[in-house]
This record gives sequence, structure tokens and C-alpha cells, in this order.
Amino acid sequence: MGAPYVGEALQFLKDPFSFTLSRTKQHGNIWKTKILGDTVVFFAGPKAFSFFMNPENFTRQSGSPKFMQELLHPDAVPFLDGDRHKNRKRLLMSAFTDTAMDSYLPNMFAIFERFVSKWVAEGETVVGPDLSQLGFDIADMLFAASDPATSNVTMANDFSTLIKGTFAPPINLPFTSYGKAVKARDRLRRYIQAQVAEQDGKGTALGVLKAARGPGGEQLSATELEIELLHFFFAAHGGLTAAIAWLLVVIGQHPELANRVRAEADAQLGEGAPSLKQVRSLDQARSVSREVLRAYPIAPTTFLGVAKKDLELDGYTIREGWKGAGAIWATLQDGATFTDPTAFQGDRLGDAAIGALPNNAFVPQGGGPPDGHRCPGETLIQLVMPAFLGWFTRHYDLEFPTQESTPGGGGLGPLPKSGVRIKITPRARG
Ligand code: HEM
Repeated sequence: MGAPYVGEALQFLKDPFSFTLSRTKQHGNIWKTKILGDTVVFFAGPKAFSFFMNPENFTRQSGSPKFMQELLHPDAVPFLDGDRHKNRKRLLMSAFTDTAMDSYLPNMFAIFERFVSKWVAEGETVVGPDLSQLGFDIADMLFAASDPATSNVTMANDFSTLIKGTFAPPINLPFTSYGKAVKARDRLRRYIQAQVAEQDGKGTALGVLKAARGPGGEQLSATELEIELLHFFFAAHGGLTAAIAWLLVVIGQHPELANRVRAEADAQLGEGAPSLKQVRSLDQARSVSREVLRAYPIAPTTFLGVAKKDLELDGYTIREGWKGAGAIWATLQDGATFTDPTAFQGDRLGDAAIGALPNNAFVPQGGGPPDGHRCPGETLIQLVMPAFLGWFTRHYDLEFPTQESTPGGGGLGPLPKSGVRIKITPRARG
């Protein structure tokens, strides 16, 4: 349980992936620790994960640490529960319908093309730092309707400062990481506020969310939009950046797989940005994308919840008021569900295999029903990843020099240690 009060907070913050995976291996699928004065129970594997996601058992209200709520806003959707959560989530989900996502693809591919052309011009290069800007630019286009033809470096830097502060001791002074994060957050808020006021947001999630209406005509107020959009940057950036990084690694490391994905893309895609209908026909690329989300550390755990009453699972007692979290990484690396779980196998998670898994076994973006706390960006990521794979392999050749491509430690979505060294050339067509 760790030291008094602090408990195991430092180990958790330093490397939440290794921490939760090693404890699950040591203690089994349900175990507890102390983090900053709270008893926190972690739930790994499909059965325990489902138990945590059941709204009868845990609420998200007051679950997350105060400093995280302060940074993102205490009224943001991951920290709400009950009817307020349901109503807000319903409106937010309108940004992830098929029609909405189809309308984002041209702008997204304008951004992909801009970065990939730069890497082609650079010859052999380390793309890690650019990938973070790429993830930011996509979020910025989607949630602040920024111009896909340019990078907003100033706001991206503020955003990095915000992220750093989320993983630092929460002491709000001008020279601490947390204090700097609060100031950067305020600048981001002002930026988003101006974008919400000024942009119509055509072809972006901002536009869709401004127009969203519930069954009784209810809509997101300007303040609610600003709160949720800031959180959307936070929710989307790390996952997007890591997802593209690991896609480049797997096509670099598995040329056979890259050839199969390319053959599929040649058969299904046209010359420009892929459409939603075309992407849905990329079965192999979809399977590879799912396996990337399973095999590489992108999100360690869900947000925290609070037990609503005394609970019992498999002989373990969980007291009312104790906190809980779904152990995402430990569930994805669970050998009882996935044979040889540390191995990347690009054809492991085809549509039939996914359908045959128990509920809440494949949980890279959380679990439970979509109107619960499951990530609404799941449909978007699982569209963008195969779309990128198909488009990239169709148009480019990739050389991947030998490098240390295991995940660097710490934080959310650690990138490969090498920073992803690649050489991209336009495809040689015979
Ligand atoms: C690979 C990319 C992504 C990963 C791995 C990921 C993962 C997650 C995880 C683990 C959660 C927490 C679930 C829980 O607490 O039970 C979450 C929640 C959330 N994600 Fe994502 N996410 C990704 C992309 C996105 C994108 C692109 C968006 C777009 C806005 C997004 C928006 C959200 C929101 C709004 C929530 C809170 C949902 C709620 O509490 O109701 N995510 N995501």
C-alpha cells in the first residue's frame, strides 16, 4: 500500500503501465493500493473490468483527483455522472456519427499530407517531435476549426505545458510545472473561446457540436462547449500521436504486413483522401489498427470512480467510498484472453475475432455502453487509423532502420525510445 498518505502515487505517476501490469501479475485481477490518501482498487480482465464499469457499482462524481478536475474543469464530462452525464454525453456523441466523421476526413488528410511531405523532403529523419505537433494540429482542426494548412506552434506549446502539469505535484506557484500548466490552460481556454465565437466550423467537430440538438431542442451552451473542447484536446492528442507513431513502427517492422495492407488499399481506395465508405472496406488495416491499440501502451487506466455502496467481487470486499479504476493496459495484456499477449500479431483482431471476445476484453478506450463513460472518440480513432494505414501504404514506401523501438517509460502514451527514425519516399510504381 506504500508510504502513509502519498501511498504509491509516485510509482503510479512515474509509469502507470508497468505499475498496474506488474501488480496485476503479482496479485491477480483485483487489487488495491493507496494513492494520496485514497484506497484505490484496480480491476483487470473482462469480468472485473465489467464490474467497475457497471454504473450501479461506481460513480465518476468526485472520483478523479481535485488537481486533474481543476486543470480540465470540474464540470467536464469524465467527472460527471447520472442524468447530467447522460444529457451532456448525448450531445457530444453527435460529433462521432458516420456523417460527421466522413466530413472530417478531407481536413485530416490535408494535415497528414503536409507532415508526410515534410518528412519525404527531410530524408532519413526522427519524426517523434513532429508527431506531437501532428496530433495537436488534428485536434486543433477538429475542436477549434483551425486551418489544416498551418501548425499553431504557440498553442501546441501551451498544450504540452498543460500535459506536463497533469503529471507533476499539484503545487500552484509561478515556477512549478503545475502552476505553469494552470496559466497555459487559461491561455488555451481564451483561444478556444475565441474560436467558438468566431468560426462556423464547417468540416470540423466544432461545427457539428455547435449545431447539435437533443430530443427536447437542448444544446451545448458556449461555456459547456469551451469546457468540453478543452478536454477533447487533452483526450485526443496523446492517443492520436501514439496511434500514428505505432502504426509507422509496425509497418516498418513488418514489411509483409505492409504489403498486404497496401494490396488491400490499392483495391479499395482512390487517389485522394479516403472516404468513410472506402475505409470501412479495409478489413486488414482495421485488424492491424486494433492490434496496435492492444499491443502498445496508449492509455493505462480509466478515470477514477467511487464505490456507491459496499461491494463484493470474487471474495474481495470493496467499501463504499473507496475509489476504483479499470486497469486498461493489464486487461489488454491479459494472457487468459489474448494468447502470447506481448506479441504484436497484425491479423489477431479481425472482425470475427473481436466479435467472439467476452465483453470488456478489448478496452483500449474503456468499456461499457457508449452512453456510459466509454470513450466517444473510439469510432473516430478506429476510423482514422485504418484510413492512415491504407493511404500511407498506397502512396509511400517506408524504410525503417534498426532502432530501439520499445516504448519509453512514463506518462500517457509513451512513444518508441528511438523517437521513430524513418525514411519515406513516394511509392515507386512499376
Ligand atoms: C487512441 C486514442 C484514444 C484513446 C486510447 C482513448 C482512451 C480513452 C479512455 C481510456 C477513456 C476513459 C474511459 C473511462 O474513464 O471509463 C477515454 C474517455 C474519453 N475520451 Fe478518449 N481516447 C482516445 C481518443 C479520443 C478522441 C479522438 C476523443 C475525441 C474527442 C476522445 C474523447 C474522450 C472523451 C470525451 C472521454 C470521456 C468520456 C466520458 O467520461 O463519458 N478520446 N478515452
